[in-house]
Amino acid sequence: MKLNIISIIEKKKLGQALTAEEITFFANGAAKHTIKDYQIAALLMAIRLNGMTREETVNLTLAMANSGEMVDLSPIPGIPTDKHSTGGVGDTTTLILAPLVAACGVPVAKMSGRGLGHTGGTLDKLESIAGFRINLSMADFISQVKRIGVAVIGQSENLAPADKALYALRDVTSTVDSLPLIASSIMSKKLASGAQGIVLDVKTGSGAIMRSLEDSIGLAQAMVRIGTDAGRRMVALVTDMGEPLGSHVGNALEVKEAIDVLHGRVTGPLLHVSLALGSYMLLAGGVAQTPEQAEAMLRDALTSGRGLAKLREMIVEQGGDARVCDDVTLLPQAAFIGEITALSTGYIHSMDTTALGNAAQHIGAGRREKTDRIDYSVGFVLHKRIGDYVQEGEALATFHCKNESDASDVTQILREAIHISPEQTQPLKLIHAIVEAEHIVRL
Ligand code: URA
Ligand code: CA
Repeated sequence: MKLNIISIIEKKKLGQALTAEEITFFANGAAKHTIKDYQIAALLMAIRLNGMTREETVNLTLAMANSGEMVDLSPIPGIPTDKHSTGGVGDTTTLILAPLVAACGVPVAKMSGRGLGHTGGTLDKLESIAGFRINLSMADFISQVKRIGVAVIGQSENLAPADKALYALRDVTSTVDSLPLIASSIMSKKLASGAQGIVLDVKTGSGAIMRSLEDSIGLAQAMVRIGTDAGRRMVALVTDMGEPLGSHVGNALEVKEAIDVLHGRVTGPLLHVSLALGSYMLLAGGVAQTPEQAEAMLRDALTSGRGLAKLREMIVEQGGDARVCDDVTLLPQAAFIGEITALSTGYIHSMDTTALGNAAQHIGAGRREKTDRIDYSVGFVLHKRIGDYVQEGEALATFHCKNESDASDVTQILREAIHISPEQTQPLKLIHAIVEAEHIVRL
């Protein structure tokens, strides 16, 4: 029987499951623009309201992945392994774990994204290093990973075009917050980009796409199941985004913090979560047998300086000024730097992390429109975390701005987004759960 989009919409409207053929017809039609936007939008809303079965979600993911180029990383010896975060603030784990994992012998062939909404993107951070090239040909990308074990580039244009078409409409039809649509969107791009081992960092809390822990665990499990059914080695960590992960927010500032971590000058939550994610990459990559053994290998790469040396090597290979690894003042610097003081005395109770991310975007660290130019130098450094005591007049943060007006805006936004309470509060738990296909460990 000939497939037609109206009967597919009708079926999902009535809450029935779609077949693999129907889903593939839809994904290919979206990718080739042979199905009208209003019909795609109607089906997206029917999916948002009636959900999808596990089988439908897997089929949608595979159809979207197959709608474009499927990257073949098989020429790379070993098990190419990737890490993907659902999006965070002050979350620069990739710049830390990619060189550490590569230094431990697991190839990291990573396609990263740009900042989206209130979240930062690895590509924008890397481009704050003078000369760094994120557009390599597929042949150069693979050849670099074969030579030095690591490369981080932008997504190729033709990766999962069906997702591109759907995502553009989800944004404007209030259908972003659908678990099967988020899971298939992220995983279609991961499957198409070729890694055999995939470690997911699913964020939870005030800066995350899913704010409640149960929803975040559900998303993690859905994505792990999709990848497992597609034959990849999968694990997801559900980690906290109730406050920025590192203290630095902004592109060059986050590169500086990553370099400080790789020098061993900075520890804390950013290093902790990077080592946890990196450990599961070593397990997926088959070079370690237990998380403890994997973490010891990563710590050895860190303290011996092999991690930092690997980052230097990657920057050189991709045309960047690797001297930043030894002199962070060579990174772009903002003109207006100053302190944001606390207006009351007490404990840091909570933060509106989405508002913090938006504040960085507002002063130029992110784009409001696709064509906006980023100011790599701007952002802020937080001096307090949730649970810390602060006195009125003490510095909460340092801003890095291009002018006084932005400095005044960011001061006001940060004071509103960081909540101080007289009652003592506890630091946040960093890792909430480890999710494998049929197995969830809550920590
Ligand atoms: N990131 C994606 O790539 N897709 C989504 O649906 C949400 C976040
Ligand atoms: Ca291989």
